[in-house]
Amino acid sequence: MISNSKSKKTRIKLSINGNGFFHGKNLIMKKPQKTSKDFNTFKKRIEKEFFRHSVIVNNPYTKWFKKGLANTAQVKDLIEQFSVFSNHFIVTQAKRMVNADTLEGEECARAILLNECGVGQNVKTGSIEGNRYSNRNAHINWLRQIANMLDLNQKRIGRWSTGTKLTHIFLNGLDETYGSHDGQIGAGASFAIETWAAFGIGHGKKEESNNFWMELVEGLKAYNKKYRVPRGLKPLPLGFFLYHFQTEAGHGVSVWQELEETYFQADFDEEKFIKAGKQALKAIYTFWFGLEQTRKQLAK
Ligand SMILES: [Fe+2]
Ligand SMILES: [Fe+2]
Repeated sequence: MISNSKSKKTRIKLSINGNGFFHGKNLIMKKPQKTSKDFNTFKKRIEKEFFRHSVIVNNPYTKWFKKGLANTAQVKDLIEQFSVFSNHFIVTQAKRMVNADTLEGEECARAILLNECGVGQNVKTGSIEGNRYSNRNAHINWLRQIANMLDLNQKRIGRWSTGTKLTHIFLNGLDETYGSHDGQIGAGASFAIETWAAFGIGHGKKEESNNFWMELVEGLKAYNKKYRVPRGLKPLPLGFFLYHFQTEAGHGVSVWQELEETYFQADFDEEKFIKAGKQALKAIYTFWFGLEQTRKQLAK
């Protein structure tokens, strides 16, 4: 006891600006403590590195789609490829949940995963606490309903084999980052993907009209007006897209909360987080680029 308190006193005496101390003859340097000012600097870096990515500010496919120029073959292609994305995202989301290295991250991933599978979610907070499950509300079933109205082969919906080469590259890229065993890589990818999906939400009508979910909603509304209503066909339901637009606000909030917890972890690696986020954004851009190529081939 006595010798311990003595050595403690010596440590305090030899403390160097609070950043290090001598242990015997060795100088031990402590990692500098991160402050909220550092966190704000990091948030600014994120805005610079993620928010100006092409998939967020200039996605050629969704910018075209929102104009309402898509024909039936092009809408069918969107639904099929999106069903592959939506269905296989569930696997990646489960990986994100089990690999998260913060409790916040795990909880947030669990809520997104179960909501995809049919558990109701509070659209404002992203929480699924106490909500009910319904098979009808599994998101893939909403896409099946649209597919049915478009006379698509139900067996193709959500299947890996339906995906194009670029859809596969995208999903594999997502698996490597968002689904990584390294929780920090997963956190970077998750943050980037969720902020992409929630981009513009809550910032007024004009900004929201540039959110990709809303761009798809606008394009589908125009498609219904041009191709379905005049032929006496029931309009394609927009629920799948509108629901995601609404829930993204909650996801957007959750990932910012998760970011704070991740950032202040002692072993947080800023470079790794940013790199993973950019890799995930590149992967998602590949998905839209694939749709852009196909829609050009399907134009009449
Ligand atoms: Fe979904
Ligand atoms: Fe989301």
